[in-house]
Order: sequence, then C-alpha cells, then structure tokens
Amino acid sequence: MYLSLCVSGCVGLAAYFMADRLIGSGSMTDNFIKAGLFGKDLNKSSDNKVPEAIGVLCAAVYLISEFLFIPVPFLPSLIEEGVFKHGEFAQFICALLSICCMVFLGFADDVLNLRWRVKLVLPTIASLPLLMVYLVNGGSTTIILPKPVRFLVGNKMDLNGIYYVYMGMLAVFCTNAINILAGINGLEVGQSVIIGLSIMLFNLVELPGHWGAGHSFSLYLLLPFIGVSLALLRHNWYPSRVFVGDTYCYFAGMTFAVVGILGHFSKTMLLFFIPQVLNFLYSTPQLFGLVPCPRHRLPKFHPPSNKLGMSYAEFHSSELSILGAAILKLLSMLKLVSMETIKSGEGKGKIRVNNLTLINFVLMCIGPVHEATLTTIMLGIQVLGSVIAFFIRYGLVKFFYD
Ligand code: UD1
Ligand code: MG
Repeated sequence: MYLSLCVSGCVGLAAYFMADRLIGSGSMTDNFIKAGLFGKDLNKSSDNKVPEAIGVLCAAVYLISEFLFIPVPFLPSLIEEGVFKHGEFAQFICALLSICCMVFLGFADDVLNLRWRVKLVLPTIASLPLLMVYLVNGGSTTIILPKPVRFLVGNKMDLNGIYYVYMGMLAVFCTNAINILAGINGLEVGQSVIIGLSIMLFNLVELPGHWGAGHSFSLYLLLPFIGVSLALLRHNWYPSRVFVGDTYCYFAGMTFAVVGILGHFSKTMLLFFIPQVLNFLYSTPQLFGLVPCPRHRLPKFHPPSNKLGMSYAEFHSSELSILGAAILKLLSMLKLVSMETIKSGEGKGKIRVNNLTLINFVLMCIGPVHEATLTTIMLGIQVLGSVIAFFIRYGLVKFFYD
C-alpha cells in the first residue's frame, strides 16, 4: 500500500508538470479562443479574451495519469499471492467513470451554457456508476447515530434507499457548491486545492487505522488531482491568463464526492465544505427564485480605485415573492444584507439588494478591496473552515460518538 502511495505521489508530481506545460502553452490556449471558448474578465478594464473551460486540460491530464496508474495497486497482490482484488478494481474503474462523465457533462455545459435545472440533474446521472458499484460491493447503508438521539431509535439505523439518495445529492451539492462560490480570479481552483489538501491530510492521519484501505483509495484519486489543480491555480491566479470553466468545478466536486463516498468518510468530507455550505444557504433565496437573481453575481469592479465592491440585484417590489420579501426583511434586520430603495436617478423606486453570496458578504464587512486580496481572504476563510472541520472531527466528535 505504501509503495503504491509513493507511486501515486510521483504520478501527482508528473501530472503537475504535464498540466502546467499544457496550460502554459500559448498555441493550446489559442485553440480554445479560436473555438469560441473564451470569456471576458468582468473585473478588469481590458477587453481581452481569456480562454475558458481550461479545466478540461487538467481533467485530461488527470485521467491519463490515473489510467496509467490503474495496475499499480493491484499487481503486487496478483504477482505475490495470485489474488486479484476484483471488488476494489471495480470501485476504482467506476470512480474514474463517474469523474470522466462529470468532466464530459461540465464541458458540455461550458460549450452549450446549459440551464440551471439541467445543471442539477447532470451530477445525479454521473454518480450512478458510483452508486451501482457501492451497491454491488455490499456497501453499508447503516449509519451510527449520535449519542443524544440514541434513546429514540437505538445506536444504529439502516437508511436503505435513502442513503443512495443522500449519496446522489452529495454529488449534486459538491459540484454546484464550488461552481457558485466563484467569479474572482483563483477562487474556484484555490478552494478546491485547500479542500483536496485537507482531505489528503485526513487520509494520511487515518491511513494506519481500521479503514486504511478506503483512505489509501482516496489518496490514489486525490494526489494527481491536487497536482493538476496546483498547475491550474498558477495560471488562474490574479491576473488570470485562463478561466477554469464549469468543467473544472464539476470535475473537482465529483472527485471529492467520489472519494468521500467510496472512502466511507462522506460526513467528514462535507465538513471541509463549511464555506460552500454557508454560501449555499445564504444564496438560497436567489437560487430558488424568491429574490431576483441576475446572470452574474460576482463582485463589481470599480476601475478608478482598481478595487472590487459588492454587486447588487435591482428590481421592483412587485418582482419579489411574499416569502422573498419576508426573508430579505429578516436578513436586513440581522444586518446580513444591504438593502435600500433607490431614491434618484436611473432605477428610481427600485429595491437594491446585494447579491446573496459569501464573497459579497465579506465585502460588506470589510469594504472594497483589490481582487487578489479578496481571493486571499476567501481562501483564508476556506483554511479556517478546514481548521474548524478538524476540530469537530477530532475534538467535538467524542461528545457525539463512542
Ligand atoms: C456562477 C454564478 C454566477 C457567477 C459565475 C462566475 C450563481 C448562481 N452563479 O455562474 O453568479 O457570476 O459563476 O464564475 O452563483 N469570470 C470572471 N472572473 C473570474 C471567473 C469568472 O470575470 O475569475 C466570469 C467570466 O466572464 C467567465 C464567466 O464568469 O466567462 C464564467 O461564468 P460561468 O462559470 O459560466 O457562470 P456560472 O457557473 O453559470
Ligand atoms: Mg461556473
């Protein structure tokens, strides 16, 4: 196992250099622009075309690396003991199949600009091979209940089909949660690198334990992922020379969902998503259409100061649902949103509310800042989230579980 992990680490390193070269190659990124795959950096004064969906290059390097790695964990036992671990092999292949499906669907999204409804369905479909192999390998659907509720239903509960729904929803959440905490240079990849490194650390700590096989399986998938992501981050950091696209967000989210599910630590994995959960909860009024949601919610660029400030949604009160109005009133009372009625000029009489994203909330607290500073602050919050996650996992958990 340790030899396979060393090989996986080397594959990760090679994947970093390969991805770095590919993304840095001007002729390759020019091809994306020629194919119409580019976007405008909304937080810059220039109108340069920035190649979009470059995550597909990362994903390609990742899949090639993993395909070459496939025999490594299985050959030693076959040669030495004549045993081929069919179950683990099927898991590995299905994990790559699910990730591959998600990359394909993400790329389709970047090219075709799919609707939000479709974006929610895609990860569910891509996770089906994963759920199938989980079922065939006799994956447990029983959960150990926390101590405070044990007097109600006992120590354990078998969730049966509900557990499969939960796993499908996990894939939907992970992919979309990364995609909506986005819009400033380096944030999509930066958060994924931090989540990836946090899971890696957790796997390494747990490796000698009872569930070592699941954690080594997770590391086989994670190390090359971290390699290609670091390469992408180098080119996506402020000022971005490439955009990662939905392809990368879906690729990253699916990789995390796959390792969490097949490594049997999905609850701990979710703990590393604290900023994404907060961003999702804060976003729900706009995501579910209770408050009008513009196409882009990223912060607003202010050219004279070269800083980013909050972005706003402007609408007439008639466009607001009753529930949406009540939620905004409550959030405003709690000082969690900035809401006002426009008194003069264009849009007079309209309501103006900051777009409900964690990035805007941070800007509301600290005021306008430079884009690179904002990304660094957001990534600092992500690191803090991981510290809290480790504290919950290793500190607080003893109050809830034996
Ligand atoms: C999600 C967000 C949207 C946000 C967008 C930015 C929700 C519901 N959707 O939409 O609010 O504006 O991501 O990624 O929250 N871009 C930049 N700078 C960056 C990254 C992206 O200007 O650092 C712009 C570029 O024009 C790029 C575009 O965002 O072309 C990519 O947006 P896309 O990924 O298509 O948006 P969604 O994922 O649909
Ligand atoms: Mg996106």
